[in-house]
Amino acid sequence: MSFMAWDENYSIDNELLDGHHKELFQIFRKLNEKCMADDTAETYSVILDELEAYSDYHFTAEENCMNEAEYTYAQSHMLLHKFYMTRILEIKLKMYRKEYKLCHELILFLGNWLQKHVIGEDKQMSCTLCKTV
Ligand SMILES: [Fe+2]
Repeated sequence: MSFMAWDENYSIDNELLDGHHKELFQIFRKLNEKCMADDTAETYSVILDELEAYSDYHFTAEENCMNEAEYTYAQSHMLLHKFYMTRILEIKLKMYRKEYKLCHELILFLGNWLQKHVIGEDKQMSCTLCKTV
C-alpha cells in the first residue's frame, strides 16, 4: 500500500476527527512526494509549516474532546501528541541544516507513527468516549 493511503481501517467512528486525520494523511503524502521530487529547503518549508499548524489544530480538538469527557488516559495521550510535535521540530531542524536525507527519513517515520497512533490510541479513545456519552 502506498504511503499514508487512507482506508476505512483508519476510521475511529468520529466524523470530525476522521476528517482531520484524512487531511493530515494528505499533507504527509504531499510532503513525501515533494521530498522525492526535489530535496531542497524551499520544497519542505511551506508544507512542514502546514503540517505543524494543522497537527496543532487537530491535537487541540482531540484534547478538548478528551478533557470534556474526563477521559482516563488523556494525560498519557497528550504526551504522545507532544512527542509527535517535537519530531516535527526535529524535522525542521534537519531541514535548516540541509540534512535532507534525514529529514525525509523522519517524515516517513512520523507518518508511520501517526498511522499506528490513529489505529491504536485514537481508536481506543474514541470507543471509550462513545460508551460514556
Ligand atoms: Fe491522538
